[in-house]
Amino acid sequence: MQQTGREPMTAAGKKRVLSGITATGRLHIGNYIGAINQWADNQSEYENFLFVADLHALTIPEAVAGKNLRARVEEIFALYLACGIDPEQSTLFVQSDVAEHAELTWLLTCVTPVSWLERMTQFKTKGKVADVDAGVGAGLLCYPALQAADILLYDPDLVPVGEDQKQHVEITRDISQRFNAMYGETFKLPDVMIPKSGGRIMGLDDPTAKMSKSTAEKSPGHAIGLLDPIGQARKSIMRAVTDSKSGVDFSDELAPGVTNLLTIFECFTGTTRDESRERFDGAGYGVLKGAVADAVTERLGDIQRRYHDIADDRTHLNKLLTQGAERARNLAADKLSQAYRAAGLR
Ligand code: TYM
Repeated sequence: MQQTGREPMTAAGKKRVLSGITATGRLHIGNYIGAINQWADNQSEYENFLFVADLHALTIPEAVAGKNLRARVEEIFALYLACGIDPEQSTLFVQSDVAEHAELTWLLTCVTPVSWLERMTQFKTKGKVADVDAGVGAGLLCYPALQAADILLYDPDLVPVGEDQKQHVEITRDISQRFNAMYGETFKLPDVMIPKSGGRIMGLDDPTAKMSKSTAEKSPGHAIGLLDPIGQARKSIMRAVTDSKSGVDFSDELAPGVTNLLTIFECFTGTTRDESRERFDGAGYGVLKGAVADAVTERLGDIQRRYHDIADDRTHLNKLLTQGAERARNLAADKLSQAYRAAGLR
């Protein structure tokens, strides 16, 4: 992990982390390696606030219209638990259950220059000019203000995410600074925390593109979903793009697809690159893929077994959701009042 060691500790004597996942699609091993697994690994060290971002999902209405978004939110929540997030150690909640997120967004939207929002890579890719003309919602442009509200409401020290979210944490710091400069010291400046390895898992079908939920919906061989049937997951790994060589050759530059498979293997087995070199140098790609498939499917099997038990008990799941939202609201309400007072509204 990139550690920063800067902020004062929280009341519990631990640094606070906050992070979330957008409910736009099925979770994949990139989300697991880049986010959930680092939350689970470090949860006893920190005070954790982890949530499902359902309001962010609405920024792409085409992706959610006609779908049962709440069911997807509950699926993700159950997956957090199945992946080892402990509700005793972490406050787990759904974004829209804590209305303060939407309220603070407005205050932050008003201090955020449009030019900062237009510069965001996500807006430039998802909201291309053509789409803007076709009527893309303003929510996509204002997405970073909502994300800044998610973060700043809880005064976290660290935001554990994959590499693609770095720019969002940076703009959150900028928005925080701007609000503080205009209205007086209100928000902290959180630091991003990205895993040393696995911060950007690439598509199996195209190792030059990040593994993503939206591409996974269109291209079956692109990602491994955490709930994919085990046989299908193995097949996608065995078909992963490498290069025209016959096997792993560490004396030469490795193809992006091979590096990606090695990274996945190392993240799932806790091995180092040196150990991989010893094990796979000179091995055929079939051997590497078989080892990756074994490691990934073993973990998926465990996650899926736990997931089915958890998801079957809706009463317990909903009780946890309610409790988590209450705990989150306690902090969020205080911070929102502080922000309203700073802005002269109270
Ligand atoms: P989202 O839902 O796109 O991704 C969730 C988490 O998974 C990480 N991730 C990856 N990591 C490695 N390799 C990949 N291929 C990969 N794809 C995704 C992401 O970096 C992220 O950590 N805007 C956020 C959700 C959000 C949020 C927040 C995060 C809303 N508010 C506040 C942190 C703090 C998003 O859409 O992530």
